[in-house]
Amino acid sequence: MIKKILYRSWQFYKAIFPNLNKEKWENTLIKADKNLIPLLNQLGKAEKAHTLRVLALIEKDKSLDSELKIELSDFAIVHDIGKAITKPSIFFKVAKVLLKLSSDAHCIAGCRAVWHLTHNKKLALRILKHHIKPNSDSFLKTFQKYDDQA
Ligand SMILES: [Fe+2]
Ligand SMILES: [Fe+2]
Repeated sequence: MIKKILYRSWQFYKAIFPNLNKEKWENTLIKADKNLIPLLNQLGKAEKAHTLRVLALIEKDKSLDSELKIELSDFAIVHDIGKAITKPSIFFKVAKVLLKLSSDAHCIAGCRAVWHLTHNKKLALRILKHHIKPNSDSFLKTFQKYDDQA
């Protein structure tokens, strides 16, 4: 219970006071699909910082084999791209943490944008389904471990 409260408080704090390493963000974008970079750059500071935290967790996990690590990292960069469109407000972020509201809007917006910009069906569908729980897709199930901690 205390662990849960501490975790919620940490999520709350990160949503309000994001700490973004701009140099790391720029270096991360180099690895992204060129067609997605302009939209990724429209993400808010908190979302960019979250993306870098997900990447750092994947990077430091020594139990992952290198191929899966690369695939998870590539997905981490773009997974919340829909938030560049839905632009969740501070109020929504706080309410989401407190009330466990659904995250569907950014999944749908991200899926549509990625399909429109890249025609990468696999990536678009992964973005659409990345918050489904329990997830029958083993890749997304693994990804959620890092996303939920970051
Ligand atoms: Fe998400
Ligand atoms: Fe996320």
